[in-house]
Amino acid sequence: TNIAVFASGTGSNFDALAEAIDRNEVDAEISLLVSDKPSSKVVDKAKERGIEVLSFHPGDFNGKAGYEQVILGACQEHNIEWIVLAGYMRLVGTTLLTPFEGRIINIHPSLLPAFPGKNAVGQALEAGVKVTGVTVHLVDEGMDTGPIIDQQAIRIEEEDTEEDVQQRIQQVEHVLYPEVVGRLVKGEATKHDKAGITERF
Ligand code: GRF
Repeated sequence: TNIAVFASGTGSNFDALAEAIDRNEVDAEISLLVSDKPSSKVVDKAKERGIEVLSFHPGDFNGKAGYEQVILGACQEHNIEWIVLAGYMRLVGTTLLTPFEGRIINIHPSLLPAFPGKNAVGQALEAGVKVTGVTVHLVDEGMDTGPIIDQQAIRIEEEDTEEDVQQRIQQVEHVLYPEVVGRLVKGEATKHDKAGITERF
């Protein structure tokens, strides 16, 4: 199964997924890395692994449809079946959502629907919650709003700094995301829609 990872950050989730694939725990290949930040670490990591990279400056294009058309072309060329967002900090538009409906997933560092958007860990600490976690969900047109596929909780202890929580969240992400991708490519994952109805992919 060919997958594309979309990322613009340090790429620790990209690494975790690539390593799980290397260990044959996930029956997929990362055929394409898409990044809207050509200078990001994840771009270098993908190149080191010999993975094809499509990176671009969104400002060079005439709006979202402009660059998403280029991404769509690259995904089609590589026969991409699943798009895995891992720190891609942009909303996905209809140019990609329509052809890849139900085939784009994201990982978010909170138990959605709590704390969507930026700085989810900071939002959780600000709110004083004692439990937060990680969510993997299908991507729709909203900000972190699509049907939930899986979640894992972590406790926030009294003495925790934001860095402590961030670190534990990332440790959970690096196990949960490859697991979910592995189940998706095997056709074993389930999603829960907003009415709480469970459906198999
Ligand atoms: C992750 O924490 C993920 O939850 C969020 O972006 C971050 C990406 O980190 N969507 P990395 O680049 O994979 O290290």
